[in-house]
Amino acid sequence: MITVQDHSGFSVRLRKVLPADADILSHWLRTSSETLPTLAHTSFQISSTWRNIFLSDRSDQIYLIVLKESHRPIGLSVIYRVDRQSRTAFGGLAIFEQAERKLGRGFEAKRLQLRYAFGDLNLGIVYSRVKSSNESIIRGLKKFGYQTQFQPTREALAAEHTILSLERGMWAKLPEDLR
Ligand SMILES: CC(C)(COP(=O)(O)OP(=O)(O)OC[C@H]1O[C@@H](n2cnc3c(N)ncnc32)[C@H](O)[C@@H]1OP(=O)(O)O)[C@@H](O)C(=O)NCCC(=O)NCCS
Repeated sequence: MITVQDHSGFSVRLRKVLPADADILSHWLRTSSETLPTLAHTSFQISSTWRNIFLSDRSDQIYLIVLKESHRPIGLSVIYRVDRQSRTAFGGLAIFEQAERKLGRGFEAKRLQLRYAFGDLNLGIVYSRVKSSNESIIRGLKKFGYQTQFQPTREALAAEHTILSLERGMWAKLPEDLR
């Protein structure tokens, strides 16, 4: 199933990753200096990994391509460690095309990711794992109501990551322009 979400008046959409995206995804991960912690493994730099991800269709990992209005791929939304029992998951987002950054698209794509996570997936909490030094991302997440987790895992501390969480109730109370 292809998921397309649209936000009237703005220019990003999300749709499910297809085998035809394997080359651009591996290219992004080979050439990007900043990536998502969950995509740090070198296997993501190889096209066949992405084709296998598509074929395996794992329900605990959901990869959605970020498209701009022209339908050109510019980034990736990853919802991972999806736990249907506890209704929790982690969400990460990257705008890999450098020329498309700083235009508000990352923020809009995050809104769509959260709508998908709380709406379509019916999650109760969405976590985010970010480099502790990345203050602008942490500030950005706090605009969406994310709060710092005060008991991060040892794994996160060792990697100098901060874990933030957003509860469904907090998200639901956000003003219209953030949801
Ligand atoms: C983070 C990223 C997606 C932002 O993309 P962008 O299109 O340049 O962002 P925008 O133009 O929408 O940014 C507007 C503001 O919202 C924040 N923001 C945007 N997208 C965000 C996101 N997904 N999460 C948190 N904050 C975000 C930005 O930090 C920025 O804040 P600032 O004005 O204080 O600097 C992009 O820089 C990127 O891909 N970085 C590498 C991957 C990464 O670190 N992802 C976040 C951790 S999961």
